[in-house]
Amino acid sequence: MFNKKISTAPKLLTFSDVMLLPGRTETDPDDVKLTSHITKRITAEIPYIASPMDTVTGAQMAIAMARIGGVGVLHRNCSIDEEVNMARQVKRAESFVITDVVTIKPDMTIKKARELMKQSNISGLPVVDDHDKVQGILTKRDVRFASDADHILVKDLMSAKVISAKRDISIEEAQKLLHKHRIEKLVVVDEEEKIEGLITVRDLERRGKYPNSTRDEDERLVVGAAIGPFDLKRAKALDPHVDFIVVDLAHGHNMNALKSAANISKEIEAELVYGNLGSKEATEDVLSIMEDVAGLRVGIGSGSICSTSVVTSASAPNLFSTLNVASALNELGSDVPVISDGGIKNPGDAALSFAAGGSSVMMGSLFAGARESPGQLLSLEGKMMKRIRGMGSRSAKAERFALDRYAAKGANSKTIPEGVEGFVPFRGNLSDIVEEFTSGVRAAFGYAGAGTVKEMWMNGKFGIISSQGAEEARPHDIYPSASGMSDGYQ
Ligand code: XMP
Repeated sequence: MFNKKISTAPKLLTFSDVMLLPGRTETDPDDVKLTSHITKRITAEIPYIASPMDTVTGAQMAIAMARIGGVGVLHRNCSIDEEVNMARQVKRAESFVITDVVTIKPDMTIKKARELMKQSNISGLPVVDDHDKVQGILTKRDVRFASDADHILVKDLMSAKVISAKRDISIEEAQKLLHKHRIEKLVVVDEEEKIEGLITVRDLERRGKYPNSTRDEDERLVVGAAIGPFDLKRAKALDPHVDFIVVDLAHGHNMNALKSAANISKEIEAELVYGNLGSKEATEDVLSIMEDVAGLRVGIGSGSICSTSVVTSASAPNLFSTLNVASALNELGSDVPVISDGGIKNPGDAALSFAAGGSSVMMGSLFAGARESPGQLLSLEGKMMKRIRGMGSRSAKAERFALDRYAAKGANSKTIPEGVEGFVPFRGNLSDIVEEFTSGVRAAFGYAGAGTVKEMWMNGKFGIISSQGAEEARPHDIYPSASGMSDGYQ
């Protein structure tokens, strides 16, 4: 019986074990369309997801990802209020009509108004009375040189003449109105002159600048947020501010966690993504317990900062998991999208994930090196770096907010770490990183003879490579030039 365990053991294939077989193609890499599902309801032009890690995805990263056509999942290693705040920042970053408007009362002081503008990073506040009726508007320009800000009141400096519009105004009409009155903001009001929203010149300008961005039905940027499997309170607090919630768990086939997540999904409106999974059995269990699951995050132990496999010898590498889960879904006739998570270093790895049945790829370390990730730029031995840490690393656990990622019930920060911390090279602006990475993914699709993600599911074929082959497959037998081999993907 024990012998059989080895004779029937599956091969834990990882990205470096396989290659894409070049196939007949009629698609030029430039014509490849990567548009794909992130969740059942959400599609993205660039199906990349920034990981919920506290050195990868805060509000700035989520905004930048959604603008270029991907999406970010906000990390949860912070208080509920802080995570909700990040989500609100993303939703306020761009929209046609901002509905979550920060307002101020006429009797508040200018000091308070300045604080509010600074905190929310906005340049104008509609002034409303106790019944939300619009009384005026106060902009940065009105308060810039005001002295005695402790005593002067909002009503003393606001403009009482407010140009307003109704909710059904079109973009073109709004643009005309803003131009006609040479103003930066239009207040949206209902029949009783109560505030309903705000339209800003800045948002209208941005719409043209980011044509591929991932937006919700109100033209705001799409964002996801992570929660622990038992954290109904956090889920409910985030629900009105995000498009999807990711149950962030190292081992999703924990039945207690799964049952709890299934209950959470009944209590919220946002879509729920569950993970991480690695097997057919896990997929079947999730689908039978959580019928409305909107996405499955897969891969265990592949992440750049993971030490799960070192510590526990447990592993379901990303490629192996993607193949297993996508096949299981196929057999069940389910179209739940698979998020292939962890260990993606090169564009080719992402292409392999798609060929294995992934609908999107989730990445941590690649994006941790972007200007938009949380944390400062550091100079280490003359090289610019950014910090990265696993959510199971000792220092991340010390924050105590994500302990249940590794032990479903556990709030014990003294347990053995399952992640490490370190540095990644600074790679510049996210948009440049993604553009370069995507050109590599498109090239891989070209070799495989796939013009879309669905075609990659059908046409992408694998070859298993030997260790000698793997050596030959990378640059070899030359002396690297100063900028050469160490530059870029390895
Ligand atoms: P990459 O390779 O893109 O992987 O940096 C990111 C993914 O790694 C997972 N993650 C961890 N896994 N211990 C783990 O075992 C950790 O401390 C840890 N932190 C993040 C996670 O799935 C993420 O998306």
